[in-house]
Amino acid sequence: MLDVGSLRERFQQCYGFPPHLIVRAPGRVNLIGEHTDYNDGFVFPVAIDRATCVAACSRTDRLVRVASSDLNEEDTFSIEHIERSHRPWHNYIRGVVLALRNAGFPLLGADLLIASDVPRGSGLSSSAALEVAVGYAFQALNQLDIAGEKLALLAQSAENNFVGVQCGIMDQLIAVLGRADHALLIDCRDLSYRALPLPPTVAVVVCDSHIPRTLAASAYNQRRQECDTAVRLLQQWYPGIRALRDVSEDQLTAHLDALPEPVRSRARHVVSENRRTLHGAEVLEYGDVAAFGRLMNESHASLRDDYQVSLPEIDHLVATAQRLAGCYGSRLTGAGFGGCTVSLVEQSEIESFSRRLLQAYHQATGRTATVYVCRASDGVGRVVDSAGPQQ
Ligand code: GLA
Repeated sequence: MLDVGSLRERFQQCYGFPPHLIVRAPGRVNLIGEHTDYNDGFVFPVAIDRATCVAACSRTDRLVRVASSDLNEEDTFSIEHIERSHRPWHNYIRGVVLALRNAGFPLLGADLLIASDVPRGSGLSSSAALEVAVGYAFQALNQLDIAGEKLALLAQSAENNFVGVQCGIMDQLIAVLGRADHALLIDCRDLSYRALPLPPTVAVVVCDSHIPRTLAASAYNQRRQECDTAVRLLQQWYPGIRALRDVSEDQLTAHLDALPEPVRSRARHVVSENRRTLHGAEVLEYGDVAAFGRLMNESHASLRDDYQVSLPEIDHLVATAQRLAGCYGSRLTGAGFGGCTVSLVEQSEIESFSRRLLQAYHQATGRTATVYVCRASDGVGRVVDSAGPQQ
């Protein structure tokens, strides 16, 4: 957990006065529903108890000063002239401020201090947490009415248009809407969602493979294009479809052979993953964790064989987890090509599960992984610390 008191102190040291507010936005882990969000489909993520915090104070001019307590780095820019920086983390902040400015909101500058305990580059959405925290801080400082889906869409547009990553809406949406002890079943077409409680006897265990996701951006964009191609081809028979979300498994099966590879496999993953996600939320609602775990295992097989976004090391982590006592199901989570796995594990088995998983991974790959036992937490909001609620 980030220490809010020391963030407040560091802000004071940095700028010479206390912050006006401190905002916290969580990272996320997706339980099921992978690579479905940009196909207008369904996802089932949780916001985790690792977050990015922004301590902030308004200025009277249009300057934005940013200090990062983790990176020991600074950035300064004017709201009038926002250009891309060669430092990626600058662009998440600049992109959000530009998106707010372009949406016509009147903005004053701000002094910001950023701190985060979401591991970077691991597929736990540290970037969405940063975008959402910064967007929330600016809307609070400038008393704008931007909350819920509006804030998530604004953060996503910063990532799509300024940072240049064609991500879907899942990460920003769960960073905004997350609910403690719940997972959210989100319909990525109309952005409606339902919060479903996680069974208290089960833990969400994330394992970071520490394999850098170097191929992730190019492979991600390529997968998106392949899904678009699938839709275009399927429209010959189903002119009414707008996205793979509109295609049933029967409809796909009827014309599967007419689709060339790899488009065929990509479509099969997305269409079956939507079914698994809806079914998963349903069985979890009835408390059938074992059935949910089986769907997670099937999801991984589909990501590995049809969507081809896994790696041998990740497959090893998942296969090991699936065999260990107390594990209901395990899969790759996030965009893939490295990053993390997620497993649902009986609370009483967490310790031996984690130890054995790490040992087996080290033996097989020579690599050291890290386990995070995550608690589902709330989405973005102001932090209350021992000094009381922020003004
Ligand atoms: C990344 C993207 C999300 C989503 C996942 C895959 O995390 O940012 O929008 O597409 O990959 O499910």
